[in-house]
Amino acid sequence: MRRVVFNQKGGVGKSTITCNLAAIAAQRGLRTLVVDLDTQANSSRYLLGDAVAADLPGAAEFFEATLGFSMRGPQAGDFVHDTPFEGLHLMPASARLDELHGKLESRSKIYKLRDALTALGDRYDSIWIDTPPALNFYTRSALIASQGCLIPFDCDDFSRHALYGLLETVQEIQADHNEGLQVEGIVVNQFQARAALPQRVVAELVAEGLPVLQPPLRASVKIKESHERALPMVHLDARHPLTLDYLALYEALKA
Ligand SMILES: Nc1ncnc2c1ncn2[C@@H]1O[C@H](COP(=O)(O)OP(=O)(O)OP(=O)(O)O)[C@@H](O)[C@H]1O
Ligand SMILES: [Mg+2]
Repeated sequence: MRRVVFNQKGGVGKSTITCNLAAIAAQRGLRTLVVDLDTQANSSRYLLGDAVAADLPGAAEFFEATLGFSMRGPQAGDFVHDTPFEGLHLMPASARLDELHGKLESRSKIYKLRDALTALGDRYDSIWIDTPPALNFYTRSALIASQGCLIPFDCDDFSRHALYGLLETVQEIQADHNEGLQVEGIVVNQFQARAALPQRVVAELVAEGLPVLQPPLRASVKIKESHERALPMVHLDARHPLTLDYLALYEALKA
């Protein structure tokens, strides 16, 4: 299964959710790949810690190779690296993604990621793509390359109104490029069960018939430590309530 974690709004939890769900998949024995398409490289840093290096060939070098001519085309596997976590591999991001963006768009390379990930065939059971907070070439490439789409939602009222636009974008990609793309659901992140506003906002989404996944992911300061130590929650503290939320969400997705 190839999934994209998508929301144009910044800071809603895309990278955190990508890495934590992927870490659980790998821990469950699935051969798992994270593809980081955000020039900020937050997922790359989260999974590699200090080992993250600008010269590690990753997503930028993959896309750069698509600009050159080669009979066999660039192989995604050449741009993938081990992480410290068994069964979890990473195609890292770097600032070079920014430099390449204009060229890739003008040369219409939008299907290259899909083709390369498809060519990886059965090397991976589970692929998770982290996207930048923008609807740019990389985000569109990811939506075209995926079968499932998760939309993180941060319980903010502005984000609530933006959700309809996001769902329309997915529908447009479905119609024009990728009829296999399914919205798996909205992942409620940084949920504060005791505050009235988030409860109301989420209840409204459900009432409107939007596909809200259960359970929500609670807000916890532990996530800062998880980022700082470059340890996804399931490795940092397997019994933490937020880890349990992630495990339950993972199970809900598999079903
Ligand atoms: N469950 C949580 N509880 C508390 N804070 C969280 C939680 N999940 C994520 N955060 C915090 O929210 C911030 C944004 O998270 P993250 O970087 O994953 O979002 P993003 O959507 O990938 O951002 P960007 O759009 O910049 O790529 C981070 O500071 C992170 O620590
Ligand atoms: Mg991010």
